[in-house]
Amino acid sequence: MSFDVERVRADFPILSRQVNGRPLVYLDSGASAQKPRVVIDAIIEAYSSEYANVHRGLHYLSNLATEKYEAVRGIIARFLHAPHEDEVIFTSGATEGINLVSYGWAAPRLQPGDEIVLSVLEHHANIVPWHFLRERQGVVLKWVEPEPDGSLAPEKVLAAIGPRTKLVAVTHLSNVTGTVVDVAAICAGTDVPVLVDGSQAAVHMPVDVGAIGCDFYCITGHKLYGPSGSGAIWISRERQAEMRPFLGGGDMIREVSRDAVSYADPPLRFEAGTPGIVNQIGLGVALDYMMGLGMENIAAHERTLRDHARTRLRELNWISVQGDAPDKAAIFSMTMEGAHAHDISTVLDKRGIAVRAGTHCAMPLMEHYGITASARASFAMYNTLDDVDALIDGLVFCRELFG
Ligand code: ALA
Repeated sequence: MSFDVERVRADFPILSRQVNGRPLVYLDSGASAQKPRVVIDAIIEAYSSEYANVHRGLHYLSNLATEKYEAVRGIIARFLHAPHEDEVIFTSGATEGINLVSYGWAAPRLQPGDEIVLSVLEHHANIVPWHFLRERQGVVLKWVEPEPDGSLAPEKVLAAIGPRTKLVAVTHLSNVTGTVVDVAAICAGTDVPVLVDGSQAAVHMPVDVGAIGCDFYCITGHKLYGPSGSGAIWISRERQAEMRPFLGGGDMIREVSRDAVSYADPPLRFEAGTPGIVNQIGLGVALDYMMGLGMENIAAHERTLRDHARTRLRELNWISVQGDAPDKAAIFSMTMEGAHAHDISTVLDKRGIAVRAGTHCAMPLMEHYGITASARASFAMYNTLDDVDALIDGLVFCRELFG
């Protein structure tokens, strides 16, 4: 099946609006992606005629909502090629997933002086939960620098692993540079458990957790064309068995008395309280939509965008692109002499072009590049070659303004 970007665009109502009197050119999907009509309709339908709490009632609507909600576990398992549905734990996003691993798996196991290996490419969501362990229980964070082209050498990650290393926590795709990390090579080279932050990667390429060989893989729904507040983490049965519950409350217990508590089996053990029922239902629809288009087709379309953007940006020798590894997604973080990232973003916005400016929740990476901020254009499946050209024209206009 070929990929028809105009048909895809027609599925996203917001893409037909204007911003500042110009057609919207949305290049901020790395921050959050727009939603297709099927997801919006599913949310309306769920609240309009299929809503009740899940796992609790025996009445018709509760059963219906539970069925729809639980079916999403299977959709996510299919999307990630996970061997077992019960390895999928619903979360509100990648941040909650990584915190679950930090509190539920790492905190009870790691001793003072134990190490966690991280890359400098990480998003704060895959840094701060580990800082908690450093602050609270003397865990040591070991950092691996990216190469000059922004790639991460698996052998350097493996070389950083020592006898005290208890976890490797690494992104699959940098939200700043778009760099794809060869996480399978990292997993193949070590017996140390590996957590992969798939927040960005799962949007742009097929993911197979079995083939990667990791222990933990998290995704976030709002970047996957689904609702904000949805997401999941895949955790192998082996690691789940080593975890203690993180959040306590309803739905995650078997029995509670005044003196004792026993817990439900995973995955419910790790899902306390009323969950984001409709958010997850919307995520299921979004993932079905992506799989219907074909992840390989999406990836191929985005490679075309990446190659065009890369070629055109290289023509602008007054733009610095942070990280330009051969294997990268269509995500470009840029700085320009004489114009702050916020200026670039504001000027582009006046032309209807949305990019993100700032540190992108990746301050160690900003420090690595010796910058305080950048402007980031992050493309998605609904972007076109014309969107790339609009960005380039906007950057040229910035250059004229700021010299
Ligand atoms: N993690 C999101 C980004 O990269 C918010 O912009």
